[in-house]
Amino acid sequence: MFNFHKDHSNLVNVSLVVFVGLSVFVAVMPANDLATNNAPLPSMPRMTESERRGLAVYVSENCAACHTQQVRNIEMDKTWGDRPSLPSDYHYSKERQDVWRQSPSLLGSERTGPDLTNAGQRQPGELWHLLHLYDPRLVVKGSIMPRYGWLFEETTEPTPDAVVVPVPAERLRDSAHKVVATQRAIDLVAYLVSLKQAPLPDGTAPGFLPSPGRKESTASMTRPDALPDGGSLFVQTCSACHGAEGMGLPGAFPPLAGSAIVNDADPTLMISIILGGYDARAEYGVMPAQAEQLSDAEIAAIANYLRSSFSNDAPPTTTEAVKTLRSTVAPQTAILP
Ligand code: HEC
Ligand code: HEC
Repeated sequence: MFNFHKDHSNLVNVSLVVFVGLSVFVAVMPANDLATNNAPLPSMPRMTESERRGLAVYVSENCAACHTQQVRNIEMDKTWGDRPSLPSDYHYSKERQDVWRQSPSLLGSERTGPDLTNAGQRQPGELWHLLHLYDPRLVVKGSIMPRYGWLFEETTEPTPDAVVVPVPAERLRDSAHKVVATQRAIDLVAYLVSLKQAPLPDGTAPGFLPSPGRKESTASMTRPDALPDGGSLFVQTCSACHGAEGMGLPGAFPPLAGSAIVNDADPTLMISIILGGYDARAEYGVMPAQAEQLSDAEIAAIANYLRSSFSNDAPPTTTEAVKTLRSTVAPQTAILP
């Protein structure tokens, strides 16, 4: 009955059926499978308007040329996240931009700079990000990341609601000029601090084991009650702003070397600052709260490290003291609108 030579409609019909069948099999079914099985994780916040605009800035400045956003399921990627990335992680960032434009993939393939999957977790400081974008060398010595000066404006009369970036005076044309973040910079930073891996609903992680992260690696093998290594925790969490030598950055981050707060015999204020952040003085920026990132023992370890380093000299504090203060401290609010 299927005589292709005598009845050409057979030829057309069979090709049509094969074509439609293949299309369903290789395109429609996988797309449907992706759409139904990779819903966002329940703990994943929806992107705000500002974050979405920031993502567009990230794309247009081609940050993906140097930065990946994918934690691969291999041991060496453990530094970049608590678990390997899942398709669900990209749910919101892959939403269509509009009818005509699909969101481009930001997974990246080039790691000249660090992976940014968890950038907001590692560095929650909006002010740090603004300074870093204005000139990475201001906060990271010897950084090879380019400046993004065009995301900022110099003006002599910033409007009252402008986000003024505390660029050191010697970098400005004259003392009357101030550096103000444009909306694009503000949106980009909102996007960067939003980059955090959402925890899985059941608390486990596929692939590499659920990483207790620093808690495990810094736990001392010698004494069970020993605190983690405060020095390396300081480098990981605080030195980006306060400097590896605790010298700070004039106009942005205060020095911790010789600080009266660090050297106070009573550690209450210092611990509260680390837990809840700090915004006490106009001449400095805002310190982001660290309560979520650090355990009580880690905060005690950092505090003790600071109280005995950089020529500081104050008695050590304890995990118990941090635990007691944790419930009483309310976190600082963000600086960006
Ligand atoms: C030429 C390569 C290059 C480009 C392009 C680039 N970066 Fe970077 N980036 C780096 C390097 C290298 C570092 C590490 C040194 C540092 O922190 O400055 C870095 C660090 C960072 C960090 C700190 C990450 C962390 O966890 O410490 C952030 C955030 C960041 N870049 C964001 C961006 C954004 C946003 C853009 C686009 C506007 C961008 N980068 C463009 C190379 C680049
Ligand atoms: C994003 C940048 C940033 C990071 C990261 C950061 N700080 Fe701060 N810190 C600040 C700023 C800004 C201030 C000053 C706030 C003010 O006075 O208005 C400050 C103030 C302080 C003070 C008060 C010092 C004084 O003499 O006034 C202490 C103590 C301190 N930070 C400790 C830490 C520790 C410990 C860490 C790491 C766990 C840390 N900071 C991480 C920005 C940062």
